[in-house]
Order: sequence, then structure tokens, then C-alpha cells
Amino acid sequence: MREVEGVVGRLGGRGDGVVDTDRGRFYVPYTVPGDRVRIAGGKARGDGFAADLREVMAPGPDRVEPGCQHFHACGGCTLQQLAPVAYGDWKRDLVVQALARRDLAPAVAPLFHPPPHDRRRAEFVARRVPKGVLLGFHERESLRVVDVADCLVLNPALVALLPGLRAALKPMMATGDAIDVHATVTESGIDLVLSGTWPRETLPGLSALADELDLARLSLRGRGWVEPVAVRRTPVVRFGGIGVTPPPAGFLQASPAAEQALTGLVRDFVGAARHVVDLYAGCGTFTLPLAAGGAVVRAYDDAAPAIGALTLAAGQGGLGGRVKAEVRDLSRRPLDLPELKKVEAVLFDPPRAGAREQTALLAKSDVPVVAAVSCDPSSFARDARLLVDGGYRLESVHPVDQFPHTGHVELAAVFRR
Ligand SMILES: C[S@@+](CC[C@H](N)C(=O)[O-])C[C@H]1O[C@@H](n2cnc3c(N)ncnc32)[C@H](O)[C@@H]1O
Repeated sequence: MREVEGVVGRLGGRGDGVVDTDRGRFYVPYTVPGDRVRIAGGKARGDGFAADLREVMAPGPDRVEPGCQHFHACGGCTLQQLAPVAYGDWKRDLVVQALARRDLAPAVAPLFHPPPHDRRRAEFVARRVPKGVLLGFHERESLRVVDVADCLVLNPALVALLPGLRAALKPMMATGDAIDVHATVTESGIDLVLSGTWPRETLPGLSALADELDLARLSLRGRGWVEPVAVRRTPVVRFGGIGVTPPPAGFLQASPAAEQALTGLVRDFVGAARHVVDLYAGCGTFTLPLAAGGAVVRAYDDAAPAIGALTLAAGQGGLGGRVKAEVRDLSRRPLDLPELKKVEAVLFDPPRAGAREQTALLAKSDVPVVAAVSCDPSSFARDARLLVDGGYRLESVHPVDQFPHTGHVELAAVFRR
């Protein structure tokens, strides 16, 4: 398609600039409102077309210099060009708009920003090419790998891991091979999980890799399984002061500062409630601080390794009597009304799809406080509507920037009867 010129009117839901022209609407990445741009239109997208940015002819007022050498090439960040205040307002507005689409207009707090370099876990991709191993993130909407040398978002320990890991993987991969590399910073060192099928003869090499890189733990992951191959030190993270060994590649909040912010909010919401239910509990991010604060917590998650880790941590941390954790699929078997009787506060923190089945039942319950953590404003708004229709008041919503420089936003919220 021929090139077009126009002005970015606003940012869309994914963070791309929206340019309305007499040739139609274009979604242009790496732009800010007010930018006058030259663009090349491409495939149809929604009510318009995706477009490539050719030139910023005149910058908008909130355009800043991106801080990372890989910005534009790397698919990890899409919004480094936007000034922090405008960025915070835009992300908060994503939450406001999602709620407005369900006719909800609660108080929405300003966005919580974690500091740079706070992200403790990353899913890298490694690809063997004739010269060596490319290790980093995919390019935007592409399978090409950006060989990451630096990152504004990641904990420096993750960036420092990359050169040694490239060298160590080189003899173990054939040209053209690609694997996923899941890395988490823990108190005792890096917890690394490599995907893919590895021939038996590479296993001793993998153990040596754990020594060379001074990893806490190295695991292999295939379809539906994950197995530690070297545990040099037990990986430990801490929730409410209680040490937990997360399962390899198990869920953890990405940024510890964002996690602290969420935990603080959840504690405030739950207040002095003694009988608490934590739904979608993972390995205890919220269960353990709540139990350490005196509550008796029943925790549920469908991931057996996470529930195992939580149960062990609660026992070792002296909270065994106050935490009861159970493996349960909450979509198929949500907690029913008799199970919610006498519960003083419920917390739910579901995956992106939300907690439709469980909130439909919660809406009929008489639990006085329902706290929510969500990584998807749309599914949250749908579930919030169910609770509000059931008689709850959505008191406040607090957006948290768990994934800086991207279009993703996390939030915590509280409902009360
Ligand atoms: C966003 S994570 C939150 C975990 C935990 N609250 C935390 O902050 O670390 C969502 C959790 O929901 C669990 N999960 C996903 N689908 C589920 C289901 N149908 N029933 C129960 N748990 C589920 C996952 O295993 C994961 O631990």
C-alpha cells in the first residue's frame, strides 16, 4: 500500500497510535498522540489497518527518547517513546474504559509504577544460527530473535546470565534449533528451565551448564512435564517473610515491587478478617502474608505443584495450622454457597480468562469482602459486573504496572456488601 501521512489522535487498547485519514483508520506502533507521521498501511485490523511507521515528521508533546538500544527491534516493549505521566494516564484509562463498557464507574487510583530493572522472571527464546546462539526476545509479531545485550525492564542478574548461557548452549544445539528459556531470579540464584527434547547424551552437559552458570536449579520442560536435572541450591522466594520454593516454571508475579504493592492492597482490603479464602492462590503470594498476619486461609489452585509448594512452605514457616491448601479446578468446581458460609473475605486472582463461574457463585454469597487481583481489565470488568449485579459495591480499583512499557496492566480491587 502507498504511504500516507497523518496525526496520531490517541493510543488504542494495545498501545498503537490511532491515525484517522481519508484513506481509513491506521494503527501505528511506536507513536504517541500528536505525532505527525508518515506510515505504510498493511493488513486489515479491526475497524482499520495495521501500519508501519516510516517517519515521525513532527513529534507529539509526550514523545521521549526510548531508553533501550533494542527498542523497535525487540517485541518485549512497545511504549518506551511515551513520557511517564502520559503513559500512566493511558494505562489507568485502559482500566477505566474496560469498566465503563460494563457500566461501572468506581474510584480508580493512579497507576503504581515499579522501578526499572525490577522484573525477576523472563521467558527468553534461544535460536542456534551458524555463528552461535541468538538469545533474547522475539521481534514484534515475528519468530526472529533479538539477541539481547541489555534491558530496561529485567533484573540485571537475568541480563548477566545471557552471555554465559549463549556460550553454554552453542555446543548443545544444532543450527536451526530453537528453545524457550524460562529464567527466574530467586534469593539463592537463578532458577532456569529449558524447553525442548534433549538427547540423553546431552544430559551430563546440562548438569555442567548448571555449574558453569552457578544456577540454583536447572530443569527441563516438555509438553506437560517439567523435571529438575540439577539442584545446586534450593530456589527460594519470600511471601510475607515465609520462604517458598516455587515449582520450576511455576507462576510468580513478574515484578517484586508490583507484587509488594498488590500484597499491601490485598492486606488492606481484607483488613481484620480472620477466615479468608484465597482462590487461584498459586504458591502462596497472598495466602502466606495473610496467614502470617493472623488469618486462617483456605487456598485453592488447580496446579498441584504450586499447592504442594505452598503447603510445604506454610508448614516450614510455622503456619501449617493456619493454611489449608487444596488442588481444585475452580472453573469446573467453583466454591459453592455452603463452602463460602462464615467466610469473612475472599480473594481471587485468576488467569487472563477471569473467574466467571466462581464470581457467579460469589455474587450469591454473603461474604462481606471480596478482593480481586487481575491481569486483564476486560475479564475483570465482566466478573465485577456479576458481583455488582449480585449486590456488591465496587469500592476502589488500583492499576499496577506489572509489565512496564507494554499494553498489559494488572489491578487490585475491592468489593463490599
Ligand atoms: C495469575 S496466577 C495467580 C497466582 C497467585 N495468586 C500469585 O499471585 O502468585 C493464576 C493462578 O490460577 C491458577 N489457575 C488457572 N486456572 C485455574 C482453574 N481453572 N482453577 C484453579 N486455578 C487455576 C494457575 O495455576 C495460577 O496459579
